[in-house]
This record gives sequence, structure tokens and C-alpha cells, in this order.
Amino acid sequence: MALAAVDLSVDLGRGLILPNPILVASGTFGYGVEYGDVVDVDRLGGICCKGTTLRARIGNPTPRVTETPGGMLNSIGLQNPGVDAVIGKYSATWARWRVPVIVNVAGESVEDYVEVARRLDGIPGVAAIELNISCPNVGRGGLQFAIDPVAAGEVTAAVRHVTDLPLLVKLSPNVSDIRPIARAIEDAGADALTAINTLSGIAVARDRTRPLLGNTYGGLSGPAIKPVALRIVYETAQVVKIPVIAIGGITELADVLDFLAVGAVAVQVGTAIFADPTLPVRLVAELEAECRHVGASSHRDFVGSALPKRPGSPSVKGVEYRP
Ligand SMILES: Cc1cc2nc3c(=O)[nH]c(=O)nc-3n(C[C@H](O)[C@H](O)[C@H](O)COP(=O)(O)O)c2cc1C
Repeated sequence: MALAAVDLSVDLGRGLILPNPILVASGTFGYGVEYGDVVDVDRLGGICCKGTTLRARIGNPTPRVTETPGGMLNSIGLQNPGVDAVIGKYSATWARWRVPVIVNVAGESVEDYVEVARRLDGIPGVAAIELNISCPNVGRGGLQFAIDPVAAGEVTAAVRHVTDLPLLVKLSPNVSDIRPIARAIEDAGADALTAINTLSGIAVARDRTRPLLGNTYGGLSGPAIKPVALRIVYETAQVVKIPVIAIGGITELADVLDFLAVGAVAVQVGTAIFADPTLPVRLVAELEAECRHVGASSHRDFVGSALPKRPGSPSVKGVEYRP
């Protein structure tokens, strides 16, 4: 008997249809080309490439990574060759792939983001832009765009103005209430939200005379951050109409299903790729098998099953300490 067809596609709007909901997260899969010998990249739902800035960056002083219980801290510092070199080196290859490549964009000012988006607009092989707004806004005393609804909305609107490319904006978990920030980004014209970026942390050097990382601060990722990511996706999915793509600590199918349950339409796999680059492609097959197993025609049947019928209380009200 022929197997029933399972539809794993994800429509993010503005013409961007992902073949399936398993993407790879920015900074953990290079520009995709590095993994060509190990993985059939065309079986992925999408590739978010390394953070790309207007000018080349050499990145932060070493050490840049350290292992933590259930995760890792990194402070790469957006090392990359700059947007023109990224386009020149990789876009022709991306254009030959079926998998959509989403270019992750970072900047130090609204003008930086706008200029990078302008240069990416219309380049064959660039399917969408993901704004990494967890960057200091140098003109505003170094305050991150991602922690302020006004700044997050401003940079989103400015980029929206210069490109018709699908626009994803990546939320930071380092805030007390994600909801006004998510709404501001939606109102400014983003097509989808991705959540979450890393949690800010530090480690101490072995001789305890200083912090361990060359940049002092690093971003925590891996299984340790999954509960935080689940909470942010849960709260965000209840206050926006645009799709939410979840990221944070995914290592197995159960994690994917948990994120779909709290309202994500797709997921990105990050740190776990360092241990097993074949994991994301395997998750695609496992998700399809799971749909067949429960008789679902699409993974979309799983989306939002754990969301409350009415909006839930945000954790910032202190519900976890209620007697
Ligand atoms: C080494 C490393 C580099 C990263 N670089 C970027 C980046 O350039 N831009 C970005 O938006 N996120 C970056 N991230 C964050 C990941 O895309 C992802 O949001 C985060 O690691 C949480 O997912 P995970 O727990 O599955 O790794 C990076 C993460 C790691 C571990």
C-alpha cells in the first residue's frame, strides 16, 4: 500500500515556502557549503548562514568558546568577510540549491542593517533576511536593539523599507517581557519572528584572576536554554499573528515537537550540529515518520497544542514564586 503523503512545507509569507520545518541556526552551519560533503543540504528546510555585517570583522579575542553544563558559551564576535564578499563567494552556489538560504544580518546602527539589506536585495540565491538585533546600537550608548521595543521596531521598519525579501527578526531572551518587543517588530513589518538568540553569560578562568572568555561575555546555547526558549516562544506565539520559528537546545525529535506545541511553525537546530551535523536532516525524516505514526497529514496539526485557549500570564509577573 502506498504511504499517505505528509505535507511538511511551511509558508512564511511573501513567497517564502520552506520545504520542511527543520532549519539550521545562524553561526552553527557556516555558509552551508562547508557541510556539502557530510550532509545533503537540499534536504533541509532552510539554512541561516553566519552573521553578516557591512564590513569584514575579525571577531573577538580568544578564547571564544567554552563548554558549560548542558551547553556552551561563545563570543565569536561576528567574524565574517563582510556582505560583498559573502555574496561574491557563496550566492552562486546558493542559487543552485533547492534549500532556501536565509542571510543572517548584524549591524551597529540602523544604517548598517539597511545597507546590508539593500545589497542583498535581488541577489539570486538569497531567499530571505534574518535580522540579528542582539547587537549594540553604537549611536544609542551601546544599548541592544533587541531589548527595546522602539529600537527593535525602528530597525525592522527601516530594513522593511528597502527590501521586498522576506524579513525574519530574531528575538533576544535577555529581556524582562518579550511581548511588547515581539508586537513592535510585527507592527514594523516583519514577516516572521525567530526565537531565541543566546542568553548572556560569563565563565571564570581556571586561575580565577579574570573571566575566561577574551570578550568577558558570551552567549549561552544548547540544551540548558531550552526551557527559556520554550517560554519565550509560548509567550510570543500568543501575542503575534506572524509565524514564530523556535531555536534553543534542540537535540532530538521530542524537542521539535515541544516547540511546535507551544506555537512554533518551524525550528532551527544550532549547537547540537557541532556534535552531529547529520542531526537536522535526520529530524526531517523523524518528523515525517511521526506524522505518519499519528495519522497527521502535516506537522501543522501539532502547532499550538499546548497553548492556552486564552492568553496566559507572562512569567515576569512572578507566577513561579506564587505561594
Ligand atoms: C558558535 C555560535 C555562533 C553563533 N552565531 C550567531 C550569529 O552570527 N547570528 C545569530 O543570530 N545567532 C548566532 N548564534 C545563535 C544561534 O543561532 C542560536 O540562536 C542559539 O545558539 C540557540 O540555539 P541552540 O541552543 O540550538 O544552539 C550562534 C550560536 C553559536 C553557538
